[in-house]
Amino acid sequence: MKRLAILGSTGSIGCQTLDIVRRLPDRLQVVALAANHNVEGLAQQVIEFGVQHVCIGGDREAFTALQERIGRHTIAHHGLDGLCELSSLPEVDLVVVAVAGAIGIAPTHAAIKAGKPIALASKEVLVAAGEPTMKLARQQNVPIFPIDSEHSAIFQCLQGAHHNPIERIYLTASGGPFRQTPLDEMEKAGPAQALKHPTWNMGGLVTINSATLMNKGLEIIEASWLFGVDSDEVEVVIHPQSIIHSMIRFADGSVLAQLGLPDMRLPIQYALLHPDRVDSDLPRLDVANMSSLTFEPPDLERFQAVNLARKAMKIGGTAPAVMNAANEQAVAVFLSEKIPFGAIIQLIYQTMERHEPVTPTFENIMKADAWARDQVVRLLDRGRQAIEEPNNAAYRYSLT
Ligand SMILES: NC(=O)c1ccc[n+]([C@@H]2O[C@H](COP(=O)([O-])OP(=O)(O)OC[C@H]3O[C@@H](n4cnc5c(N)ncnc54)[C@H](OP(=O)(O)O)[C@@H]3O)[C@@H](O)[C@H]2O)c1
Repeated sequence: MKRLAILGSTGSIGCQTLDIVRRLPDRLQVVALAANHNVEGLAQQVIEFGVQHVCIGGDREAFTALQERIGRHTIAHHGLDGLCELSSLPEVDLVVVAVAGAIGIAPTHAAIKAGKPIALASKEVLVAAGEPTMKLARQQNVPIFPIDSEHSAIFQCLQGAHHNPIERIYLTASGGPFRQTPLDEMEKAGPAQALKHPTWNMGGLVTINSATLMNKGLEIIEASWLFGVDSDEVEVVIHPQSIIHSMIRFADGSVLAQLGLPDMRLPIQYALLHPDRVDSDLPRLDVANMSSLTFEPPDLERFQAVNLARKAMKIGGTAPAVMNAANEQAVAVFLSEKIPFGAIIQLIYQTMERHEPVTPTFENIMKADAWARDQVVRLLDRGRQAIEEPNNAAYRYSLT
């Protein structure tokens, strides 16, 4: 029996993790849950799974409302400190980090310091804080099991082959909703169009990241830290069917791939139960009736986020943290319908241009994160008119 703390339990990954727990009651038990604002959803989960600890990130009112909703047998925690407390509880065997965004860094570090293995969905943790997180995990000898489908695929292909040199990693991407949309139309698009993902059903931030292809940019950085490869050795391939979740080419030229339906429950289950594979009754891939699997290179002129992420990784220091925070802030502004789709990347780029990278200690990363979010707000205030015209030549740039 493995006892879990699930941070971000009301989100897309969190709910799917709970679905796996429901299917495998003899193997998995939930002892702690955390969310941000969704008091009702969280309270229902607390009651269904009878958890001992719960944390809410929102304001004090949310905390009070949650306390009123749950029984006296559950201890309520609050805010970032509460997330860190949940991560290091003695009764927790594995911490599932599935909060959206860089908020996951501190609880991940708290869990590692307490010697808890991590099942990591929040890619922002390694993007913003790859160096200190991996260093800490090595020092504490704590494993990090990837949940992201691409990284799970690579991790699965590496089983029994960790000693073999990787020549190349191919990260597959569906291409998102704008793969074939005329450029002008894409740049002016709003949230309704950008949230229509062709194959995956995910939370707001990650769905927009898939539309800009920032998701792949973040994943290049994540893969680089997780598997110890140079970011230049991680290539993005558009694969619209989302059946092959990623591939590795080894030093002998052999390519290994992992296939599955686009269903996050499979990589989640693998991360929870590694190294075991057990029958959980999930839908099966019907290989004989698969019509075709296609691949093409991404259009990096159209989707500049990939080069932006490579650039951030090359600059190093706090640059990836700034890129990530600027992205989160710009996506939030986009989702509130204040800027068009094309302005997201421009805001990130301009924020990065203004940043002086420093050594990525935990404190410096937190400062850089806050600075970048503030910078996006300032840029919007200063240049709103120009930014709202994505076709304005003065605001176009080249990242190649
Ligand atoms: N969805 C996918 O298929 C997928 C695939 C691969 C990787 N990922 C990664 O997994 C992470 C989660 O994605 P998602 O799609 O599950 O996101 P989501 O649906 O937006 O859910 C985010 C979860 O985090 C919680 N949360 C946010 N801020 C918090 C805070 N300050 N304190 C406590 N809880 C907080 C939310 O609570 P509320 O509900 O109360 O707001 C919610 O439970 C992201 O980093 C994403 O990139 C997702």
